[in-house]
Amino acid sequence: MKISNNKILITGGASGLGLGLTERFIKENNTVIICSRRESLLKEISEKYPLVVTRRADLSKAEGREDLFNWISEKHTDLNVLINNAGIQQRMSVSDSDFFQRAKEEIAINIEAPIHLASLFIKLKSLNTIMNITSGLSFVPLVRMPVYSASKAFLHSFTLSLRHSLKQKNIEVIEVIPPALNTDLGGKGLHNYAPPVEDFIEAVFMQLLLGKNEISSGFSETMTKAGPEDLQKAFERMNGI
Ligand SMILES: NC(=O)c1ccc[n+]([C@@H]2O[C@H](COP(=O)([O-])OP(=O)(O)OC[C@H]3O[C@@H](n4cnc5c(N)ncnc54)[C@H](OP(=O)(O)O)[C@@H]3O)[C@@H](O)[C@H]2O)c1
Repeated sequence: MKISNNKILITGGASGLGLGLTERFIKENNTVIICSRRESLLKEISEKYPLVVTRRADLSKAEGREDLFNWISEKHTDLNVLINNAGIQQRMSVSDSDFFQRAKEEIAINIEAPIHLASLFIKLKSLNTIMNITSGLSFVPLVRMPVYSASKAFLHSFTLSLRHSLKQKNIEVIEVIPPALNTDLGGKGLHNYAPPVEDFIEAVFMQLLLGKNEISSGFSETMTKAGPEDLQKAFERMNGI
């Protein structure tokens, strides 16, 4: 994808990795639209970056995704990039009494939202790029985050098919596969051990400039290249088996 002069929607673009992408895409002379459930956060971002367009949206519901698409197709007909970044991460066990309810919430935002948004946004004539944010955990699950890890494996697989099926429409499909990053994902403080978002954003832009459509670094890059034995070893190490 070209890195300047795009009109980009970044879901979950008001915090963490999404905010890092927002800030960098503004610097590179793009128009950025972000959405999030938190009004207060959106207000904060538009005060800091007056050129960023904000929209409140709950993407866990089909109506929330349809409202967002209808608004974009009316007000921003020249949108050419969709970045499916919004996601949640929950620690849980299948034995928890609320397991299935929480699993459904995670599936709604991590799986249903990106596939539904892709199916809506390809209707825009101007759309030429979809970027999906997966994870190193797409390749090796963490047992304490069973649905999160599986949701990212789903999105990785779906992204491969999407890339192939949208070739004829000339829509490029990019997968960004982050390693652990210091954001509020899963709750404040849980990712304090991880490196800052900025270093990863740097790696993303370097790889975009090289024309790559599968972007990773560190642990996630190692996992994308690992064979079955290395994946098994990583699974045992990460899960203390
Ligand atoms: N941090 C990591 O270690 C890591 C590693 C690999 C992959 N990732 C992926 O990177 C992406 C961004 O995560 P992050 O680390 O930057 O965490 P984050 O700061 O918590 O960002 C997640 C964003 O998703 C939005 N969101 C969640 N549920 C939503 C909903 N129902 N509707 C609309 N927006 C919703 C949140 O905004 P609201 O709460 O305001 O709605 C928030 O801005 C996720 O897909 C995550 O899986 C992160």
